[in-house]
Amino acid sequence: MPGSVASMNGILCSSEALANAWHPVARSVEVAAQPVQVTLLARQVVLWRTTSGSVFAAPDRCPHREAPLSAGTVGDGCLTCPYHGWTFGDEGRCVRVPSASAGVPPPPRAHLNGYECDERYGLVWVCLGIPSAPIPHIAEENDPTFRRINTPVDIWKVSATRMVDNFLDITHFPFVHTGTFGRAQDTLVPRFELQALDNEFHGYRYEVLAKNTTGALVSGQTEKVVHRVMTSGFSLPFVVRSTISYDTGLEHTLLLLSTPIDDVTSYFTFVVWRNDDFSLSAEEVIRFDLAIGAEDKRMLEQLDGVLPLDQTTLVSVAADKCSVEWRRQLAEFIKS
Ligand code: FES
Ligand SMILES: [Fe+2]
Repeated sequence: MPGSVASMNGILCSSEALANAWHPVARSVEVAAQPVQVTLLARQVVLWRTTSGSVFAAPDRCPHREAPLSAGTVGDGCLTCPYHGWTFGDEGRCVRVPSASAGVPPPPRAHLNGYECDERYGLVWVCLGIPSAPIPHIAEENDPTFRRINTPVDIWKVSATRMVDNFLDITHFPFVHTGTFGRAQDTLVPRFELQALDNEFHGYRYEVLAKNTTGALVSGQTEKVVHRVMTSGFSLPFVVRSTISYDTGLEHTLLLLSTPIDDVTSYFTFVVWRNDDFSLSAEEVIRFDLAIGAEDKRMLEQLDGVLPLDQTTLVSVAADKCSVEWRRQLAEFIKS
């Protein structure tokens, strides 16, 4: 039965395909002087920054007596367990066992088995298994006319599946986003076709007239209503990219990132790239997007369980085509 406890705890966290995917779990700046604990697909993971400057990810469980390593301390790039002081260095190698005589090497199984870990777009990404595909490429990251703005990682009490479904859906705009850009009329969505937006994102292009609530702040224009050419697309499993082009040439790209903490709880963060004149502070630029996110969060946290992934439980219409296609592909992906 959809939404039952069994299905809520099972489908995402037990999926090998999801374990073999990259998931963003923290902001890079958060992994600094102290270890950080994150939960990915119901597994506790410790992150810390090693002497090489890179982030290391490992199960948050000491090989000695299973104390949480995230409760330990980091010094000189090494992580020390809070229980008996075993210390772990680059690549998770156990470099010190305080109770052992000098010169006695740590047991071979004392070394941590790390997870795949990478930093991209100001975020730490972790793969619990063997990555089946690279982290999606965002061209704006290497374009000097764009700046990148990161936002905090928030916890949403909703399944990542329902978040992605929402981020690919424009029909909720006039109902959920009434406090930001949603239109009070024109709920009709013109026919659109799904297409490959580039090598990595699949989705659709569309045009909207949006209320210019924040004036020049976000759109660079002062008209009451502004024309936007937009794309929304997904890269499996849970990455959504939304692009907005204004008539002035201003472009605003959003990466909307949903990571399953477990089947029904998720991390949410988004990254903005924007080719403005950099005169506005980052805080001002993202204030509007944060308000939009808060509107989605308020709605989504009222939805229970994992989004049903079969093609028969939910009723959909033409305007839902993109999220229906993403859901079809996700169901295949999870089975693979
Ligand atoms: S449990 Fe970590 S050193 Fe003993
Ligand atoms: Fe929304």
